[in-house]
Amino acid sequence: MNNRTKKAVSSAPAKVILFGEHFVVYKSPAIVAAINKRIQVHAQVNDNSRINIKSGDNSLSVSTTSNEDLGKVHANSLSFLYPILKCVNHVLSEKDNLKLGIDLDIDSQVPYGEGLGSSAASCVATVAALYSLFSDRDRYQIYETAKIMEQKIHMNSSGVDCYVSTFGGIVNYEPDKGFSDIRTKKNFTLLIGTTGIKRSTGEVVSQVKHFKEENSTLFKDLSSKARLICKRAMNSILEGNELELGNLLTENHKLLYALGVSHPMVEKLIERCLNYGAIGAKLTGAGRGGSIIALIPNDKSKEILTRISRGSGKWMLVEFDYDGVVFS
Ligand code: MEV
Repeated sequence: MNNRTKKAVSSAPAKVILFGEHFVVYKSPAIVAAINKRIQVHAQVNDNSRINIKSGDNSLSVSTTSNEDLGKVHANSLSFLYPILKCVNHVLSEKDNLKLGIDLDIDSQVPYGEGLGSSAASCVATVAALYSLFSDRDRYQIYETAKIMEQKIHMNSSGVDCYVSTFGGIVNYEPDKGFSDIRTKKNFTLLIGTTGIKRSTGEVVSQVKHFKEENSTLFKDLSSKARLICKRAMNSILEGNELELGNLLTENHKLLYALGVSHPMVEKLIERCLNYGAIGAKLTGAGRGGSIIALIPNDKSKEILTRISRGSGKWMLVEFDYDGVVFS
């Protein structure tokens, strides 16, 4: 291909869904934010027509040709390599370059399969690095391609994860109106707890579809409550109203619990956060395991992290990311 370079590096942030997961699949709004935990992809053209992928710590690796039936090897949306392989195959086919060999090194700060958008971030970073090899750095195109890949991996996904991973920031999404940035007056501090229980987003989304079909009146009621919470949450973020925002997180969690997407370990971590001084807490992402987020007072963040880290779960303090995908 003309204009092709030999090396490219890009990275994309993980995300948290602050409000509206699951309901967003059925035309309700969601508020999503990029966080300062990234997946970085180094792509380098090689001479052996093979696709070699390995994680930075060498714990995962695969070597294949791009036109092999990749699905057979890693057809599991819980495999960290699966979204990356799918994106490589798609981009090389789109660029009419299926025989091109590429080495990909992946460095990740994001636990995968735990509700933090690891597969969206790996799709965005991989697509960005590959497009970069072809001197193509159009962020909107990166988002569109990553979204298509993510939808193939998770079925029926809303696309919010890829959007926020590409463009960064705190974003309000309304299925009828699209995405809009939310600016805030305050630096909120979020604590993330991961349960270590991995689950497939596609599977949980299917379970919710089933729940909706079986309990349509209840689902409607939960959806309208979720919509109201999102509206109020947008104002609390704009105004920097920490107390209201925390309460709304906890309210949103109750709706997710009623939807059946919580898990005993999620409940345990949320309870501990609230006992240790969090202003509010909820599960984030698909649920049934995965991660929880808690809003905590800035001045107590280190103290709460130290205390809570002594018990179960893995914990990290995060800030919002405003850069989205970056090329280096
Ligand atoms: C997954 O991070 C969020 C869900 O709402 C699915 C989606 O929006 O694609 C559960």
